[in-house]
Amino acid sequence: MRTPVVAANWKMNKDLTEAKSLVSELLAGYQDAATEVYIAPPFVFLNEVNQHIKGSGMQLAAQNMNAVESGAHTGEISSSMLKSVGASTVILGHSERRDSYGETDAHINEKVKAALAAGIQVIFCFGEQLAERKSNTHFEVVQSQLASGLAGVTTEDYKHIILAYEPVWAIGTGETASPEQAQEMHAFIREYLRSEVGADVADQTRILYGGSVKPGNAADLFSRPDIDGGLIGGASLQAADFLAIVNAAS
Ligand code: 13P
Repeated sequence: MRTPVVAANWKMNKDLTEAKSLVSELLAGYQDAATEVYIAPPFVFLNEVNQHIKGSGMQLAAQNMNAVESGAHTGEISSSMLKSVGASTVILGHSERRDSYGETDAHINEKVKAALAAGIQVIFCFGEQLAERKSNTHFEVVQSQLASGLAGVTTEDYKHIILAYEPVWAIGTGETASPEQAQEMHAFIREYLRSEVGADVADQTRILYGGSVKPGNAADLFSRPDIDGGLIGGASLQAADFLAIVNAAS
């Protein structure tokens, strides 16, 4: 039995006042339930958000992290900094980091290993582009992103990894993968885990779907056997929508 997960990726949205008001609305409506909930605000609001959500049952996540621990890396944030402000988790491999900031599978793999070594859980994102789906190479692409991005990860490490399949063509576009398309890919991913790392890891690893999840489509997506929750972008910026999605996962 896998505990469902719903994670809010605020991306580069909100100022401090708006972030505080979104968090208070979330806290007002949130009932600690069977679903694990993560809030990933921009770096500058991590500490503030943590002060409010501490003890609520919701957990703090960061949207990125540098693989290096400290030093001359202007503009970057390390694992110990994240831990010091209460982040239990970090999102790595997001398609926006891959596509707009040149992060390669090898680079992401270094970050994954650094986060795990520091005791930070990873939400590992991957997913195909539209052209790859159209050319029917989406399974190969996903398999290769998993193999490279998670190279060297042990069976034990998988206890601290949540996978997030986010087809790039469905992110922020309003076009969601159909529950059938998402389930088909999630079943493929679970089968891949079974053959690569064994049945226990395959059965226990949570695989989230991300890409235009909304209150209206969440329940159908989450009812599929291999979809264990969602990574939510746009709809996580409105408390009512995000809470409705959390409730759909419970
Ligand atoms: P949207 O929910 O806005 O499509 O974003 C999904 C996503 O990229 C979450 O990480």
